[in-house]
Amino acid sequence: MIRVGIVGATGYTAVELLKILLRHPEVSVTAITSRDPNTPHLSEVHPGLRDQLNLNFSQLDIPNFCESVDVAFCCLPHAASAEIVGQLVDAGVRVIDFSADYRLNDVETFEKWYGVQHPDAARVGNVAYGIPELFRAAIKEADVVANPGCFPSSALLPLAPLLKADLIQAAPIIVDSKTGISGAGRKTNLKFHYPECNESISAYGIGTHRHMPEIDQIIKRFCGTDVETVFTPHLTPMDRGILSTIYVQPKNKTNASDVMDCWNDFYKDEIFVRLSPDLVATKNVSGTNFCDIAARDSRGTIVIVSALDNLIKGASGAAVQNFNVMHGFDDTLGML
Ligand SMILES: NC(=O)c1ccc[n+]([C@@H]2O[C@H](COP(=O)([O-])OP(=O)(O)OC[C@H]3O[C@@H](n4cnc5c(N)ncnc54)[C@H](OP(=O)(O)O)[C@@H]3O)[C@@H](O)[C@H]2O)c1
Repeated sequence: MIRVGIVGATGYTAVELLKILLRHPEVSVTAITSRDPNTPHLSEVHPGLRDQLNLNFSQLDIPNFCESVDVAFCCLPHAASAEIVGQLVDAGVRVIDFSADYRLNDVETFEKWYGVQHPDAARVGNVAYGIPELFRAAIKEADVVANPGCFPSSALLPLAPLLKADLIQAAPIIVDSKTGISGAGRKTNLKFHYPECNESISAYGIGTHRHMPEIDQIIKRFCGTDVETVFTPHLTPMDRGILSTIYVQPKNKTNASDVMDCWNDFYKDEIFVRLSPDLVATKNVSGTNFCDIAARDSRGTIVIVSALDNLIKGASGAAVQNFNVMHGFDDTLGML
């Protein structure tokens, strides 16, 4: 059994991670951490896990934690994560990091978009970006995997094969996304209170959202040129789910049918990306590690839609898929 620890285990991604890991035949969860020494038993923090795992939270003590785990999932906010990831790796623990700290491949871009000094700058650019369908070989060997952002996953899974095959132009690309409120995490914030969000949809982060440089950076790896994607997220009154509508310009009379053929070929061996003949919906992927994608023609523009669960394929499911790749297991272990 591989011993697994979760750092920052009181939050939303952590509870979904625990649900998957408790079904995983090769995993034993041996440590869960919180900053608060008075955090109650797991059954109280995550009542859905009652009687599933008899483990108490502990404050992170690096030597003790590293004694008890082989792999760590870090479910911390950005900047907090990079304070500890290096220490875990130096102690011989492989890390799957949920935060944005290692997703961008240069420190300057990180510091510009996140407004903080990077706590572990030397490691930036030297980790695997954790979309297994795109970067499987690098993930397999990695000590640190930067789990991708939820919006970038929903955009990059459909876009990367098309850019690689030179079927679409790298600019303009417009990504218009809707997200459920769990995307903001469990911490309280007035903006995310029920009366503020219910029966309302609002755009946010126009021109400033931090997932833009992440999308740009990975697109560049597939088309070779600098791009500036226009990405706008919307908060919607759902618990979970992301629907991205992506507008791209074809090259050489490519149409939606060619797009579907390209995906069909690129993803023929990938179980978690599903090509949908119908338009996709968040309900169909809720609680699963699937990303559903579809394409249509609209007056010379190709319109792509993708749907995934922000907490699963956008976070914890992708993390376990990465874990499986790192250990040579089937991608689906623990998840189907
Ligand atoms: N929610 C999503 O849909 C989603 C999707 C993809 C990626 N992510 C990323 O995944 C990470 C976790 O997200 P989440 O939604 O699970 O957040 P969350 O529900 O707010 O949980 C965050 C956890 O981190 C701990 N924490 C908070 N601030 C900390 C700090 N300054 N230092 C150390 N620990 C701290 C908290 O534990 P204690 O207070 O008990 O210490 C909590 O367990 C974030 O980096 C987020 O951006 C989230």
